[in-house]
Amino acid sequence: MIQQIQNLQIQVLAELPNLTNEEALIAYRNDILGKAGELTTILKWLKDLTPEERGTVGKAANETRDIITEAFEAERKRIKKDLIAKRLETEQEDVTVPFARERGSLHPITLVQREVEDTFIRMGFDIYDAMEMTTEYLNFDAVNVPKTHPARDMQDTFWLEGSGHVLATQTSCMQNLIMRNKSTPIRAIIPGRVFRNEDVDATHDNTFYQVEGIVIDKWIGIGHLKFTITTMLSDIFWKEVTIRMRPGYFPFVEPGVEVDFSCPFCDGVGCKICKHSGWIEFMGAGLIHPNVIREGWLDPEVYSGFAFGFGLNRLVMIRYGIPDMRYFMSPDVRFLKQF
Ligand code: PHE
Repeated sequence: MIQQIQNLQIQVLAELPNLTNEEALIAYRNDILGKAGELTTILKWLKDLTPEERGTVGKAANETRDIITEAFEAERKRIKKDLIAKRLETEQEDVTVPFARERGSLHPITLVQREVEDTFIRMGFDIYDAMEMTTEYLNFDAVNVPKTHPARDMQDTFWLEGSGHVLATQTSCMQNLIMRNKSTPIRAIIPGRVFRNEDVDATHDNTFYQVEGIVIDKWIGIGHLKFTITTMLSDIFWKEVTIRMRPGYFPFVEPGVEVDFSCPFCDGVGCKICKHSGWIEFMGAGLIHPNVIREGWLDPEVYSGFAFGFGLNRLVMIRYGIPDMRYFMSPDVRFLKQF
């Protein structure tokens, strides 16, 4: 019987290197060490032997089992290693080989923002980035928004944890910083992303882009505002555009105006884009309120200025005829590829 056990061991050790994959190895292991396996069967016979025989045969059988078990384990590791080596060899990839890459394109908001920046640069303006997170002070108090103004309400403003911080609801939150940190005369535009806690529909989003403009010097009047905006719009639409102003209320300007421009598509005759009125509502503006100038550490007796703020999304929609504001924040490449 000992002979039989030894033969089995020799046979197994000779067979193992012939196995080339893990499934075959597992199957073979089962044939030998499994419930009905050859070695298991031999071990079962032990109980029929005399106690002396059982001692010697049992010892030999256990030794063989350990040796075989270990050999199987070693074999399993070898097979795995071979497999990895083989894959490394066959699945090599030369990452330096050039491949055709599809290029993205600039977002329409970026495109128009750059055009707007260019036209203001030509007029001698500086460009600053707006902050997306700001303070309640800069967003409201510094620009003369009363403590009780409904815009501060939970409805419109995203309040941040840790009191006193908000997501900017308007790029006007940059006015105070610019006045305090830049020397006069000031001519600047500040494009930025703003956030409002509003329901989303075709013409409203909770995240959108604005461009703030601020000019401060001695003797600045509403005529400067008119010239600046007319120039910019005529540049953007490649034709003479006229503007009109209606009274409008914004706490940081006095007088405050709503600015419309003549529809560049029908030249004021009336079309779908201007809703047959000949005019397109565009932005809020006005002469900067003395309180705001004072809060910016300048003397309103000496300095005056104008400010304006418009929604870039809206300008882009008009410019390209985009019917729904929600396209801007969606990642739909079919939309983005058109620009
Ligand atoms: N901040 C105003 C808004 O978001 C726009 C505005 C800017 C109006 C500057 C007047 C002057 O509606």
